[in-house]
Amino acid sequence: MTDTEKLEKFQQRIDNGEKIEPKDWMPERFRRQLIRMISQHAHSEIVGMLPEGNWITRAPSLKRKLTLLAKVQDEAGHGLYLYCAAETLGIDRRELVEQLLSGKAKYSSIFNYPTLTWADIGVIGWLVDGAAIVNQTMLAKSSYGPYARAMIRICKEENFHKRQGYEIVATMANGTLEQRRMMQDAVDRWWWPSLMMFGPHDSESPNSAELIKWKVKTKTNDELRQRFVNLTVPQALAVNLSIPDPDLKYNEETQNWEFGEIDWDEFYAVIKGNGPMNRERMRARNRADAEGEWVRKAAEAYAAKRAAKPRVAS
Ligand code: 3HC
Repeated sequence: MTDTEKLEKFQQRIDNGEKIEPKDWMPERFRRQLIRMISQHAHSEIVGMLPEGNWITRAPSLKRKLTLLAKVQDEAGHGLYLYCAAETLGIDRRELVEQLLSGKAKYSSIFNYPTLTWADIGVIGWLVDGAAIVNQTMLAKSSYGPYARAMIRICKEENFHKRQGYEIVATMANGTLEQRRMMQDAVDRWWWPSLMMFGPHDSESPNSAELIKWKVKTKTNDELRQRFVNLTVPQALAVNLSIPDPDLKYNEETQNWEFGEIDWDEFYAVIKGNGPMNRERMRARNRADAEGEWVRKAAEAYAAKRAAKPRVAS
């Protein structure tokens, strides 16, 4: 078959709703797009451990500490899961990690904001994991088999993350005046960065058209953002928290919560590395990588020794 015929057959498989598996023929561009998206997703999970990890030693009770520990540990697992999914595309995990450590690879903008109070931990679980669930539920239907399957397991754990976050939010929103103020302050700081997680407007998104054609994404950035807002505003109102957007209003006809314009200057500044915590996150990741080098070398040495050992017939 000519490349044109292969491409036509590939698109036909996508249009038929078939899953593309690692050993199937795929356009190089499809492979590169998936490596970009899946590796950035993996980096986001690993870097995302840092803002929340900041509060493990300061959780207000043993129960909150255990729950936060479990969540941060889950995020590490999500990252490893996603690096495995990326490796099915023929790239080495170490190469992906080096891209992150050198600042060449992106990770989600949301993790470049500071976690200033315990209320932030509740808001992250509720808004950030809530946004991730909206996005990842869509990705669970992605045309690339390993990515879609990874999402199914990750979404189950994200639901636990969101519930534990919203329970913290509801507890503090119904707590003392000081707790209510602390929670409202956290919502004010995290609301707009959470909307930015879904990426630029569809008209400004260089990757969306191709990803939609290949059903890697089955919904656009703006569709997912609107779905997130529609789900989340009622949850805020249910615990008497306000959303920091004077333009927010419910449209009875479309049944959408219409919202104001995102500060795209802030968004592009953050993804260019100039957010409040970008440098700190990169310093922490590089430090952890250097301090963990002996573990990697020991594991490699052990694996090499095991491989060299003659197999004894069982
Ligand atoms: N943060 C950082 N970069 C972003 C971004 C964000 N929130 N939104 C968009 N970008 C980047 C894109 O990576 C792209 O840059 P690149 O071409 O150099 O990679 C550029 O901005 C233009 O954006 P596009 O809309 O064209 O890019 P995509 O079509 O890839 O859409 C995306 C961006 C929505 C993030 C999409 O890549 C995606 O769905 N990725 C998979 C999910 C993911 O990565 N989620 C991150 C959060 S993980 C998380 O929340 C962990 C949970 O446990 C809390």
